[in-house]
Amino acid sequence: MRKFMTMTAIAALMVGAVGGLARAADVKEVQMLHWWTSGGEAAALQVLKGDLSKDGYSWKDVPVAGGGGDAAMTALKAMVAAGNYPTASQMLGYTVLDYAQAGVMGDLTETAKKEGWDKAVPAALQKFSVYDGKWVAVPVNVHSVNWLWINKAVMDKIGGTQPKTFDDLIALLDKAKAAGVTPLALGGQSWQEATMFDSIVASTGGPDFYKKAFNDLDEASLKSDTMKKSFDNLAKMITYVDPNYSGRDWNLATAMVIKGDALVQVMGDWAKGEFVAAKKTPNNDFLCYRFPGTEGSVIYNSDMFGMFNVPDNQKAAQIALATATLSKSFQSAFNVVKGSVPARTDVPDTDFDACGKKGIADLKAANDSGKLFGSFAQGYGAAPAIANAYKDVVTKFVHGQIKTSDQAVTELVKAIDDAR
Ligand code: BGC
Repeated sequence: MRKFMTMTAIAALMVGAVGGLARAADVKEVQMLHWWTSGGEAAALQVLKGDLSKDGYSWKDVPVAGGGGDAAMTALKAMVAAGNYPTASQMLGYTVLDYAQAGVMGDLTETAKKEGWDKAVPAALQKFSVYDGKWVAVPVNVHSVNWLWINKAVMDKIGGTQPKTFDDLIALLDKAKAAGVTPLALGGQSWQEATMFDSIVASTGGPDFYKKAFNDLDEASLKSDTMKKSFDNLAKMITYVDPNYSGRDWNLATAMVIKGDALVQVMGDWAKGEFVAAKKTPNNDFLCYRFPGTEGSVIYNSDMFGMFNVPDNQKAAQIALATATLSKSFQSAFNVVKGSVPARTDVPDTDFDACGKKGIADLKAANDSGKLFGSFAQGYGAAPAIANAYKDVVTKFVHGQIKTSDQAVTELVKAIDDAR
């Protein structure tokens, strides 16, 4: 008996030692490329770093500033070309599919099965996180772009009410102008202008038109009078920005609204992350309305963590990151700070503020009624090359290189065709 006990103890020790060696070889670090560099974004990222550190993983940050991620995606391309994959990278929709097609993504299907992701993650997101039957990315959140963010005190001062139509919105912007407040806070960068244009198109043509033009790339819709009218409406909106808007970062535009230097910003709900970081609350300090004419529709994007095919000793860290990201508690805690809503359908809205609760309810309703559409500007309408062509045309129109709506439509059709 005594001898048996001793043998067992020795065997246990050996297993421990071998296990210890295997663990020692594992990299206990997560290297993450992302473009979350604003105050609200950094605060949200902190939630993830904290959760991973509780699990014993350290964080190697690879931040590449630039909203919308254009600069980050250029940096990622260079890293991947050099065979230097991060554990994961923030990515938007079609970019995930591009990398998956190139064969550089890992496979988290086993973890997905164990964790039941296929039941918890909405099908619209699985279209982008699962490639060829394999989980290659995990969605962190669902953002949507068709929002107005309004300073409440300014709204009260000018006696404004919620705009229900595009014309109401123009009338509201006029009121702000008359009161000497900058009506529209915008940064003149292509991705910001195109993100706003997504909402204008959905408002001008209605949800079905948006889908046909910007998700199906239907040529008749792209060159229709409705698209021309959408460019006219964009031109109208641009008359309400301040003279210094060119090149301004999106979060500085949000800061103008937070401070009451401007009435409204049309932006994805990452803008709410800035209000939250500034300790502002909905209905007291700011108002969140759907862009007029788009109520009932949600034009979404989702930040995905694309999971690269990393060496074996980094896989445990990757699984830890993926599991933490899709845990219910993280999905609530992170998205409350980020301004987005959970990427799972089973997370209670208890901890969310009024705008977050509305975001969660809107997403469910839009999904149920077939009015959930991918944002063209935010990588969920078409492949990156096509989305870039779109952003290029919009910005040339805004900055006067394309002079008329007629010409904008012609250039849009041509640019999309060339990029296909
Ligand atoms: C991302 C957001 C981010 C925003 C501004 C969007 O493309 O989805 O997470 O906050 O860009 O940087």
